[in-house]
Amino acid sequence: MLLIRPLRPDDAAAYRALRLEALQQHPTAYVTAYEEDAALTAEQLHKRLTPSEEALTFGALDGDRLVGIGTLVRPERIRLSFRAMIVGMYVTASHRRTGLASRLVKTCIDRARSLTGVEEVCLCVTVGNDAARRTYLACGFLPEYVELRYFKYEGRYYDIEWLRLPLV
Ligand SMILES: CC(C)(COP(=O)(O)OP(=O)(O)OC[C@H]1O[C@@H](n2cnc3c(N)ncnc32)[C@H](O)[C@@H]1OP(=O)(O)O)[C@@H](O)C(=O)NCCC(=O)NCCS
Repeated sequence: MLLIRPLRPDDAAAYRALRLEALQQHPTAYVTAYEEDAALTAEQLHKRLTPSEEALTFGALDGDRLVGIGTLVRPERIRLSFRAMIVGMYVTASHRRTGLASRLVKTCIDRARSLTGVEEVCLCVTVGNDAARRTYLACGFLPEYVELRYFKYEGRYYDIEWLRLPLV
């Protein structure tokens, strides 16, 4: 049985393992470097997984096993808080193409709708990551613009594309 629910601090070990798998196996899909999250302390992980208005991470569980993650972030700054962002989407290889990422994205969108004052959800995808891009388009996101040379990994520059879903 697949279940999607908010993660909590006591999910830290499973979250850390899946997050590091994502960063190690798909380094160009994320701006975060593997070394950055590998270095997080227990206290930092605890904070990351403590649900708040600013950030909530959802997990997809197949029985006891965490197989997918996605986070909805809302900027604290007043003038930016009309926008929420989805970050850190990942589904482990054995569970792909079953609609799990779409379910996680929709759960994040529902959460965004529940937050007073949020008018849109944004996210970015590395140019060339067609599986992720198609997932987001299938969830209703619209392409906005490409930001060139957004991050550098192993001597190469990567472009990212911003996508947006208006809620109002
Ligand atoms: C991108 C990712 C999250 C998609 O997860 P998923 O659970 O397989 O996605 P879904 O099953 O919900 O797919 C939704 C739709 O997206 C499209 N899609 C997803 N993966 C695809 C692929 N490999 N090739 C083509 N289309 C794909 C399809 O339209 C799919 O619907 P369909 O299967 O009915 O045709 C997953 O492949 C992943 O974790 N990749 C590595 C890390 C990554 O790129 N993360 C995103 C960072 S922005």
